[in-house]
Amino acid sequence: MQKKIKGTNDILPGFLGEGVFVSEFWQKIEEEILNIAGLYSYREIRTPIFENTEVFVKGIGDTSDIVTKEMYTFSDRGDRSMTLRPEGTASIVRSYIENSIMKKEPISRFFYGGPMFRAERPQKGRYRQFHQFGVECIGGDSAKYDIEVISLFWILLSRLGLKDMELVINSVGNTQSRAVYLDKLKIYFKDKLDGMCKECKDRYEKNILRMLDCKVDGCQDILNAVPSIIDSLSQESKDFFNGVKDGLENLGIPYIISNRLVRGLDYYTETAFEIIHGGIGAQSTIVGGGRYNDLILQSGGNSVPAVGAAFGIERLLLALLDEGVISPVDNEPFYFIVLLDKEMEADAQKILYDLRLEGIPSTESDGSRNMAKQLKLADKSGARFAVFIGGDEWTASSVMLKDLKTSKQNEISFKDSDPLSVLTSFFKETDK
Ligand code: HAM
Repeated sequence: MQKKIKGTNDILPGFLGEGVFVSEFWQKIEEEILNIAGLYSYREIRTPIFENTEVFVKGIGDTSDIVTKEMYTFSDRGDRSMTLRPEGTASIVRSYIENSIMKKEPISRFFYGGPMFRAERPQKGRYRQFHQFGVECIGGDSAKYDIEVISLFWILLSRLGLKDMELVINSVGNTQSRAVYLDKLKIYFKDKLDGMCKECKDRYEKNILRMLDCKVDGCQDILNAVPSIIDSLSQESKDFFNGVKDGLENLGIPYIISNRLVRGLDYYTETAFEIIHGGIGAQSTIVGGGRYNDLILQSGGNSVPAVGAAFGIERLLLALLDEGVISPVDNEPFYFIVLLDKEMEADAQKILYDLRLEGIPSTESDGSRNMAKQLKLADKSGARFAVFIGGDEWTASSVMLKDLKTSKQNEISFKDSDPLSVLTSFFKETDK
C-alpha cells in the first residue's frame, strides 16, 4: 500500500475524516477568510508554489532555520535550484518588484493562502506541508498599518469564536539599533555559553538574536535575565513601538509585551508579533508576523516599508476545536431521490439534473437497493427531504416527500404542472 509522506495530511469530508483534517472545517475558515479580506479591502495575490531558491535564501535570511535546515530544494532538469515555498512573504515581495506594483498604487493590500513546505520534525500542529493564510500591507510606514494587520487577524479569530488567545508584541528595532543590541547580547552571553544548549552555542556564532527563542529548560534562567531589546532601541524605534501600543489600546485589543519575541525569519524590523493559544500544545503560535521595512530593498526593489502576518490553518483549527467553537459548513443536499421503480431511472436522472440546474442541492442513492436501504442512505446524507420517484402516487400524478428530520410525509400533486415545478416551488417555500 502506498502511504502519504510523513508530515503531510489528507483532508477528507466529515464522515471520513477526523478532527482538524475534515474538509468542511476548512471551508468554514476559508469562508471567513474571504469575508475578512472583503471587510478590510485586501485583494488576493497568487504566486507559484515553487520559486528560484535565491528568492527564499535572500528573503528569509541565510542563517534562519528555515533556509539552513527546512527547505525542500531540488534541481530541475536544467540543473537550476528550485525550492517549494516555505512561506509567502518572500514570493510576494518578488512579485511586487517584478510587476512594478509600486508604480501602480501607493499602498498594496494583498491576501494569500495555500500550501507551504518545511522539512520540520512533524508533531501536533507542525507539519511538512501545512496551509497558511496571510496578508501583506506594502507601502505604508505608519504604525496604523501594523494595527490594521494585527486587528484584521484579531477580528478574524474573534468572528470564528476563539476566546483563549493572547497577542504578544515586541520590537526588534531597525538595523542600526539592532546592531547595538546584538553587541550587548554578545557581551552578555560570552561567559554563560558553557552552561547553555548546543543550539544556543551554534546561534551565538550564526544568529545571536535567535538565542532568545530557545525553549530548552536549562537555558531559561540565563535567558530570562537577558538585557531588554527595548532599552537598546533608537528614539525613532521607541516612538514607533509606542505608536503600535497606543493604536492597540485605542481599539481595545489587549496585548502583552515579550522582550524575547524575535520570530524565526530574518527580515523583520520594528514590530514583531504573535497570537498564541494555550490549548494546542507546544506549537502554540497561531499567527505570526511583523514589519519588514528593508526586505523589498534587499530583494532588488526600492526602499518600500511593509508589514504582514500569516497563520497556519491547521493550528487555528486545533485551537477552535480545543475550545469547541467551530461547526463545519453545511454542504448537505436538500433533496435525496429515492427510486421506487427501476423503469423510471432515466426520469429520475433528468429530474436530478434539472434540480441541480435550478441550483437546488440534490443527490441520490445508487438506485439498486430497496426502499428501506435507500432511506437509510438518505438519512446518512443529511438531506432535508427524500423524494420518491415511481410508485402508486407518482402514477396518480403526485410526488411523495418525506421530511427526514420529522419523518412526516407530504404528498403534492403535479396534475396541473410538472414534478420539477412542484419540487422547485416547495424548495423555495421551505425554511432552510
Ligand atoms: P511563520 O511564523 O513562519 O511566519 O509562520 C506563520 C504561521 O504559520 C505560524 O504561526 C503557524 O501557525 C504556521 N506554521 C508555520 N510553520 C508551520 C508548520 N510546520 N506546520 C504547521 N503550521 C505552521 C511566516 O511564515 C511569515 N511569512 C509571516 C509574515 C507575513 N510575516 C510578514 N508577513
